[in-house]
Amino acid sequence: MDGNGRWANRRGLTRNEGHQRGVENVEKIVEKAGQLGIRYLTLYAFSAENWKRPQSEVDALMKLLKSFLKKQQKHLLENEIRLHTIGRVEELPHSVFRQLKIVKEATKHFAKNHLILALNYGARNEIIDAVKRYTEAFQSGAENLGDLHWGILSQYLDTSELPDPQLVIRTSGEHRISNFLLLQSAYAEYVFSPVCWPDFSPDLLETAIEDYRNRERRFGKTGEQVRQEQDVSLKSTAQ
Ligand code: FPP
Repeated sequence: MDGNGRWANRRGLTRNEGHQRGVENVEKIVEKAGQLGIRYLTLYAFSAENWKRPQSEVDALMKLLKSFLKKQQKHLLENEIRLHTIGRVEELPHSVFRQLKIVKEATKHFAKNHLILALNYGARNEIIDAVKRYTEAFQSGAENLGDLHWGILSQYLDTSELPDPQLVIRTSGEHRISNFLLLQSAYAEYVFSPVCWPDFSPDLLETAIEDYRNRERRFGKTGEQVRQEQDVSLKSTAQ
């Protein structure tokens, strides 16, 4: 969700006002994602590197996050959406951590639709934490190094309960990944939108998904193999 600051600067507003508009847009996009049948929506809301920003901006983001959570709780309950977090959330201010815990607990029984907030998240930290957890399990005898494969290691990532992202969208014209779900996005499709996050409208989300649907995802196979498999699966569905 990049570009809140530039969006604000261009309008003579403060960066924090840009973030405020960013949150308002989050609410619209969460709603639209539900209408489009997106079952897992992950929002990169605060990276592990964002602590380097001026303290006043960090404080404003934390405040916005807390009020967003209070407001969203009703929406999540009414629409049966489970809230998850990825990242070192225990390092967030206690009041934000507590609010996250409350909403996660209140929605934990919902299984169909999921909203994931990446908070104090960085993929490199996540991998370090996963390796530490795996090593503890190995030392206690619960894991065997000879059996290690990606399916096992991925169970120690913050995303252990979540599927890999199929589409990653970055707004504001930057063409970077910025430490976001590095391993889980190995086969994701990317859309880089030139539009700053506060202007990334529900219609633009729909357009990005149409773009994604028109792509051929090969996962290492040839295009011919993929098309043959699609023909077979279409035929078996028709029977
Ligand atoms: C990047 O824009 C945006 C962020 C670092 C924060 C994203 C946060 C929000 C949209 C609001 C809080 C989120 C939730 C879920 C409540 P930038 O500030 O880097 O913009 P710039 O690159 O134009 O300066």
